[in-house]
Amino acid sequence: AIERTLSIIKPDATRRNLTGKINAKFEEAGLRIVAQKRIFLSLAQAQKFYEVHKDRPFFGELTEFMASEPVVVQVLEGEGAIAKNREVMGATNPANAEDGTIRKEFALSVGENSVHGSDAPETAAEEIAYFFSGLELVG
Ligand code: CMP
Repeated sequence: AIERTLSIIKPDATRRNLTGKINAKFEEAGLRIVAQKRIFLSLAQAQKFYEVHKDRPFFGELTEFMASEPVVVQVLEGEGAIAKNREVMGATNPANAEDGTIRKEFALSVGENSVHGSDAPETAAEEIAYFFSGLELVG
């Protein structure tokens, strides 16, 4: 089925001017960027987005990092977009990521791992609605 997923290009990647190279990976995999904006998250906004991880030991580090510099939030659309995006991103820890994946090529560490992608249909819907209104999704 055609799906939509929420993607974030993280501060380690925007800082190194990698937005275009990362978008090329998505497009080469057949994912369409149907919405996209560059924003600077407040700490409170990052905490709300990552609320499911609030009891993890890395929550402070993760949310401060995400609020440290601009991010690019985007909606990717395509056949099986949620799983396909996870394939293109590669494993969370770049040390375990396959060759050719975004995290293998660009990520610096498990925290500074260049991209976020939704992990399931329910979270994709919630995460898209957190950043975008229906009018901003242009398929
Ligand atoms: P992401 O897909 O954005 O979802 C949660 C994030 O937490 C994950 O990517 C990692 O960047 C981050 N994360 C996971 N484990 C650790 C860790 N051990 N230390 C720091 N950050 C982590």
